[in-house]
Amino acid sequence: MTFGRDEHVWIPESDLEGMSVDTLAVRAGQIRTGQLEHSDAIFPTSSFVYGSAAQAAARFGGEEPGNIYSRFTNPTVQAFEARIAAMEGGERGVATASGMAAILSTCMSLLKSGDHVICSRGVFGTTNVLFQKYMARFGVETSFVSLTELDEWKAEIRPATRMLFLETPSNPLCEVADLAALSAIARENDALLVVDNCFCTPVLQRPLEQGADIVIHSATKYLDGQGRCVGGVVVGPARYLDEIYGFIRSAGPTMSPFNAWVFQKGLETLPIRMRAHCDNALELALWLEQQDCVEKVYYAGLQSHPQHELAKKQQDGFGGVLSFLVRGGREQAWKFIDATRMISITANLGDVKTTITHPATTTHGRLSPEDKARAGITENLIRLSVGIESIKDLKTDLDRGFQALKD
Ligand SMILES: Cc1ncc(COP(=O)(O)O)c(C=O)c1O
Repeated sequence: MTFGRDEHVWIPESDLEGMSVDTLAVRAGQIRTGQLEHSDAIFPTSSFVYGSAAQAAARFGGEEPGNIYSRFTNPTVQAFEARIAAMEGGERGVATASGMAAILSTCMSLLKSGDHVICSRGVFGTTNVLFQKYMARFGVETSFVSLTELDEWKAEIRPATRMLFLETPSNPLCEVADLAALSAIARENDALLVVDNCFCTPVLQRPLEQGADIVIHSATKYLDGQGRCVGGVVVGPARYLDEIYGFIRSAGPTMSPFNAWVFQKGLETLPIRMRAHCDNALELALWLEQQDCVEKVYYAGLQSHPQHELAKKQQDGFGGVLSFLVRGGREQAWKFIDATRMISITANLGDVKTTITHPATTTHGRLSPEDKARAGITENLIRLSVGIESIKDLKTDLDRGFQALKD
C-alpha cells in the first residue's frame, strides 16, 4: 500500500459489518496515516494546505473532497463522529463543542419560527432553560409534559409540532420513556423524536433502533468517562445531520481535535466501564433502599421502579445514575453530602469517580419553584453518579452520611 503526502487511510467499515457495539467501540472509524500507527492519530491543526492554487480552488468550490479548515472538518473529529455513529447505528454523526451545543444546533437546524416542541419535564435543567428562554425568543414554543404519561404527549400535539424531545432515563429521577410508543406518536404527527441518550450511551440503549430520529449526547459524561473534556455529538440519518453539519460549520460550535481524540479513546473502554457502573449502581440502590434515613430510591433496576419492566425491555442495563430522598429537607441532604469523604461533590456525572449532587441547588437550581415541584426536584433529593470504585468503599463513604444524619 502506498501513501501520498497528505493522504490518510480509513479502516474500511465493511470489515466491521454486523459486529457488536463492544467491537465498534474499539475499532469503528479509526484512521491510520502513512506512519501506520496502531493508536488513533491526532490532528491538532486549524487549517490544511494544498498542493497547488488550483487544488485550493477545487476544495473551496466543493469539486474536490478534502479538509479546508477545522471549523468544517478535521480528521480526528471525523474519526470520533464515525465511531459513535457506528455504535448508535446512525448514518452520520456530527460532533459539537458541548452537549448543550449539540441540542442547540439540532434545534437551530431543524426548527423554524412558528414551530412547536414537546419536551419532557424531566430533562437536564439547562435544556429546559434553552427551550423556555432562548428558543422562545426565536418563535419556537415548547410545551412540557411528563416523560412517562403518553396521554400528555398526545394531548399537546398541535399542527405546528415538529419535535418531541426527551432524555431516558431522566436526570435525576431515572424515569424511563417508552421509545417505541413515542416514536409512533411522532411519526403519526410528522414530528421528529429526539432522544438525549447521555445516561445509557449506545452500550445500554440504541434509540435509533427503537424509532427515534435523532440521538444526542453530552460526550462530557460517559463517552469521556474520566471528566476531562466538554463535548457533544448528534447522530442520525444524513438528511438531518447534513443540515446540522451546515449549521455547525457556519455558526462555529465545533469540537476541538484534542477533545475528539480524548472522546475517541474514551469510547474504547465505554462498554466495560458501563457494565461496572451498572453493577455498582444496582448494588448501591438495593443497599440504600434498606437504610432507615432513606425515604425513597429512584433507580430503574429496582423492582419497585414503576418502569422497571420497560427498562428491562428497552435497555441492556440500568445505568450508573441513581437518586434518593433522605428523611428531612435541604439541611439533612447537605449534611449527608458534606459527611462523605471520598465521593466527589460535583455536578458532573458519568465519571469513573463517584459524584454526589444536590440537584435542587445546583443542576436544577435555575428552575422556578413550580417547575422544580413539577419535575420532582425536592430539597431532600440527592443524586449519585456511581463510579467504578470498590462497592465496599462506596458503602463505607456513604455510611458516613447516614451516621451524620443519626447524630
Ligand atoms: C442529560 C444531559 N444532557 C445534556 C447535558 C449538557 O451537556 P454539556 O454539559 O456537555 O453541555 C447534560 C449536562 O449535564 C446532561 O446531564
